Amino acid sequence: MSNPETAIRRPDPRPRADISPQAKPAGPCTIVIFGAAGDLAGRLLVPALYNLRRERLLAEEFAVVGIARSNQDDETFRRGLGRSLREFGNGKIVDGDWSWLAERMSYVQGEFDDPAAYARLAEHLAKVDRTYRTGGNYLFYLATPPQVFATIVRRIGEAGLAGEADGHWRRVIIEKPFGTDLRSAQELNRKILAVLTESQIYRIDHYLGKETVQNIMVFRFGNGIFEPLWNRNHIDHVQITVAETVDVDRRGKFYEGTGALRDMVPNHLFQLLTLVAMEPPICFAADAVRSEKAKVLDAVHQLSPQDARQNVVRGQYGGGTVNGRKIEPYRRAPNVAPGSTTETYVALKLMMDNWRWAGVPIYLRTGKALARRRSEVVIQFKQAPFAMFRDTPIERLTQNDLVLHIQPEEGVTLRFGAKVPGPDMHVGGVEMNFDYQDYFNAAPSTGYETLIYDCMNGDATLFTRADDIEAGWRIVQPVLDDWERNDAADPPIYPAGSSGPDDADALLTRDGRHWRPLDGSAGGKSS
Ligand code: BG6
Repeated sequence: MSNPETAIRRPDPRPRADISPQAKPAGPCTIVIFGAAGDLAGRLLVPALYNLRRERLLAEEFAVVGIARSNQDDETFRRGLGRSLREFGNGKIVDGDWSWLAERMSYVQGEFDDPAAYARLAEHLAKVDRTYRTGGNYLFYLATPPQVFATIVRRIGEAGLAGEADGHWRRVIIEKPFGTDLRSAQELNRKILAVLTESQIYRIDHYLGKETVQNIMVFRFGNGIFEPLWNRNHIDHVQITVAETVDVDRRGKFYEGTGALRDMVPNHLFQLLTLVAMEPPICFAADAVRSEKAKVLDAVHQLSPQDARQNVVRGQYGGGTVNGRKIEPYRRAPNVAPGSTTETYVALKLMMDNWRWAGVPIYLRTGKALARRRSEVVIQFKQAPFAMFRDTPIERLTQNDLVLHIQPEEGVTLRFGAKVPGPDMHVGGVEMNFDYQDYFNAAPSTGYETLIYDCMNGDATLFTRADDIEAGWRIVQPVLDDWERNDAADPPIYPAGSSGPDDADALLTRDGRHWRPLDGSAGGKSS
């Protein structure tokens, strides 16, 4: 038991193709990338498309059209993306696969609000359709600043590119952030739903592209042993952590108007929360899954102004060292105001009002420039009754916790108590570990592959519906309102390289609990 790893029989790692033998190439289509000259396209989208090609998951009848403001010809466009692929692609680049993709790429120059650009685009797409037989199926990927999402969708509609007549499909992937508060998210939904039907809209959250995040559903609902314990009778509390070591770097302009709460909570952290807390959907279909997720958010207690003050902690990083790298205080980052009150860390305690979770606190935290990069969900089970051990040398029993490691470790750990060998009765905490890498020889991926592939196949299960987006903003709106009312207040400063502000620890210690330490050592004990 002290070495629980030996108890687990490891099969030989198998290549990905054996794990998903049923994955077939997606149907014919053209993907149109708005903002094709930007960071997202180069760092993630093109590497993801390349990986899909490598896995033979793209149709032969496939093309990529980039549209952006900068003036460049097809060849320059391809060369630029080729360079990005070599820089950011994960895994070996096979020339044949890259040239297959590159020859299907072309570029249209245009301003996002200029009707003439869309007329050129429509004409170009018709030509691409004829050359690559893509069947008039268009996937518009909005990899642009959020301020132009609504404009692009309107112009696509006006140019007659959104209609799904004649047996072809038209879909739009919209990046985050989707709105900056409840009102703006509702407004954006209203504007895009005036042009598209909900089934054409794919609001992306790249957390749902992560295998370990998708595995939460399989882990809970595909095993007989966990779900019966997954409720307030057995669970003491839940912790959801997304800790980052990165600072804001050159993203100051974006981050100043955003902050940790808007950037991470209503989207990534709530995706984790909904998967952990949802009821089993009736089937694995988009609306069945998304309806259950929406119910979770609807069950979260509405925060009163007092809750927003007491149950939410923010912080901003000061100077320090992260992994041996010196970090300047947030306020000295480029494009950040010297007196900025933007939070780079936030922790919240939420409660839910339903039969499964009533009385079980859910603690969430996320921050930048922290000591470790670690995303995980901790399910802390209730303590066993101690009475039986009263007359033994045992002082306290091990807390049982189940940790779902999202990144960088990927796997699951279950911690429980075991008798320490010897004549006396002592209990030691031991762990059973499952590590993805030990079992599955998955090909490297960016996380966007599954999402793009699903969208091409019309499967919206891993995308966010309008009501889910709005429910997320509804939960955090009282916090935004509270902060706005007190906008002069400085957030507490935490040293870069620490585990966040002391107030975040106090949020749990006042409930007799502790965060699981960012270094992954055993923690989270009830006192
Ligand atoms: C993005 C945020 O959505 O997610 C970034 O805008 C954050 O600020 C990033 O760093 C985290 O993603 P990941 O996949 O690195 O955990």
